[in-house]
Amino acid sequence: MNRYHGRVVAITGAAQGLGLAMATRFAAEGATVALADVNAQALTDAARTITDAHDAKLRTDVVDVTDSAQVNAWITGVTDELGRLDVLINNAGIIRDNRVEDITDDDWHAVIDVSLTGGFHCARAAFGTMKRQGYGRIVSFSSMSWRGNFGQTNYVAAKAGIVGITRTLALEGARHGITANAIAPGLIETPMLASMNGPARDKLTNKVPMRHTGRPEDIAEAAAFLASEAAGYITGIVLDVDGGISIGSSIR
Ligand SMILES: NC(=O)c1ccc[n+]([C@@H]2O[C@H](COP(=O)([O-])OP(=O)(O)OC[C@H]3O[C@@H](n4cnc5c(N)ncnc54)[C@H](O)[C@@H]3O)[C@@H](O)[C@H]2O)c1
Repeated sequence: MNRYHGRVVAITGAAQGLGLAMATRFAAEGATVALADVNAQALTDAARTITDAHDAKLRTDVVDVTDSAQVNAWITGVTDELGRLDVLINNAGIIRDNRVEDITDDDWHAVIDVSLTGGFHCARAAFGTMKRQGYGRIVSFSSMSWRGNFGQTNYVAAKAGIVGITRTLALEGARHGITANAIAPGLIETPMLASMNGPARDKLTNKVPMRHTGRPEDIAEAAAFLASEAAGYITGIVLDVDGGISIGSSIR
């Protein structure tokens, strides 16, 4: 498959987990991939993992998405070097879970800054180029948690915010050939999921109607579709990729 040949795809939080799976998938489909992450060593390792497996053209940048100057410099660097920017994947996100009364100011701001403001910084930086091209795809990471989740006030606020931003970008981008959509993953096997409190993770996994967690490749599949030319009439949606957990009640 070469459907991304000639396309430039920029991904945040690309050094591991879902970001790495998506970078690998886009590279396998012929895209030039710009990987950004705050973790320099993991980013280098990720790029090596991809180039070991694929004949891919990559660019790596150490970027903290909470810093708009770094984000602007990254997007400018990508478009200057690679000539265009077709797809932005707003994937970087963190969790700092706690019951509401135990969430510190730091925990609140850290999660909002990375998972919500970071996505805004990137979309704002990419929008002008996409408008000039008359083409763009923005895929941002929400979560099944966006509807509300115990112990995640900060994360839920960020992930619900991503839904609002996505729907607004969809309206502003529609007449310019830009689509904006969100993916709401369920429980996917990444370092983030591994970092969750074990009993809480097991309890949630038991609620998945399919009775198993998802693989990063399941998310990469959804992202590769939403970011494709073929998905051009789909905009402003939240795509649940979660084994059915968001359906709710599951009587067994
Ligand atoms: N794994 C899941 O089950 C799951 C479920 C729902 C939503 N999500 C969302 O999917 C996205 C990816 O999750 P994951 O499981 O791969 O997480 P992960 O923790 O495995 O990877 C996140 C990556 O983001 C990077 N990152 C963190 N802060 C950053 C910053 N300030 N600037 C740039 N990069 C930064 C990290 O270094 C890391 O490489 C996140 O937005 C997450 O909230 C994941």
